[in-house]
Amino acid sequence: LSVLNLVAILLACATLTLFILFRTRYALAELSLLDFLQLRTLLRSGDPVGTQVLLEEVRPELAAALIFSVVLALGFAVALARYLAGAFNRFTLSLHQLARGDYSARARLGGAPLEVARLGDEFNRMAERLEHLERERQFESASIAHDLRTPITAMRLRVLGVIDGVHDLTPEALEPLLGQLGTLERLADDLQTLTLHDAGHLSLNLERLEVAPLFAALEREFGGVAHAAGVRLETVVAAGVAVRADAHRLRQALGNLVQNAVTHAGHGGVARLTAVQTSSQVCFSVADSGSGVNEDQLEHLFERFYRVDASRSKALGGSGLGLAIVRAIAEAHGGAVTAARGELGGLEVRLCLPAR
Ligand SMILES: Nc1ncnc2c1ncn2[C@@H]1O[C@H](COP(=O)(O)OP(=O)(O)OP(=O)(O)O)[C@@H](O)[C@H]1O
Ligand SMILES: [Mg+2]
Repeated sequence: LSVLNLVAILLACATLTLFILFRTRYALAELSLLDFLQLRTLLRSGDPVGTQVLLEEVRPELAAALIFSVVLALGFAVALARYLAGAFNRFTLSLHQLARGDYSARARLGGAPLEVARLGDEFNRMAERLEHLERERQFESASIAHDLRTPITAMRLRVLGVIDGVHDLTPEALEPLLGQLGTLERLADDLQTLTLHDAGHLSLNLERLEVAPLFAALEREFGGVAHAAGVRLETVVAAGVAVRADAHRLRQALGNLVQNAVTHAGHGGVARLTAVQTSSQVCFSVADSGSGVNEDQLEHLFERFYRVDASRSKALGGSGLGLAIVRAIAEAHGGAVTAARGELGGLEVRLCLPAR
């Protein structure tokens, strides 16, 4: 825009100057030789009368040049205003489209001035981000609905079976209901944790935690599951390693990782939980001897409801929220979590938290 303004001003000045030069020359050419020589002598002597006479000669031309320049500048200004208004109008249409909830709206501002085009680029980036968020929201809603429906349907069928007399009302007949209620409760808890994190309200009760007793508790909690799956659960930590964290949340995060490792280690495999302290942080790593995941799947593991093998994971009761929760807990502590192929052959997830 500033360049266009400059061009307009230069154009007006150049026209004015050219007009004056041309008309002055023309006016002077019309003088008789004697008058011309007299005028030249006057101008050379610096006499103000000379300048006055010259001005007298070219005054009509000056006025004409001025009018012409003003008309030219006005014409240019109107054209510029129309050009700008056109670009802004197209931009406003895209804004309206977005405001109506159509996230596919994009500003097409090819040929617009640089500043307006830049505004359009920023708008397009924002619209793209909104469209992506909206798609994620729809996907999450569909996943939640699906994960709610599965246990509810199973519970309904079981209750119908009792009502129709297919099952007797015995503790054995009710036991599956307990498992399905547990699944629903876990889903509600997981969703609550993630919603609290999104709202920035995942409150932490930070305290100094010895890692060895925490590992012992995890071994007690998952020992039975690991044994049933034929997986050896190992923990490796030096004495005295401590971290500043929320006990419940850290156990929840490590529990999710150990659960995954035990699930994927494979019969006769190993799941290993390690903690290493450096000067500034404590890094936990959970690795297993399973087959891991492909390189291109690594980056998606921490997304909500992401399951590498959806049917297998669902059969195992997973809803794809475990790793998303680990990431939320890591972030709430000011830490980070990453995943890679581990030395045991399977997946290795590293969760690093500030030591104090
Ligand atoms: N140790 C692992 N080895 C191989 N794949 C894994 C491992 N841990 C996680 N995954 C893959 O990553 C996906 C996401 O894991 P996540 O823990 O978030 O969800 P989930 O285990 O399916 O369900 P949830 O943890 O909510 O019960 C899993 O479905 C699985 O495909
Ligand atoms: Mg999991």
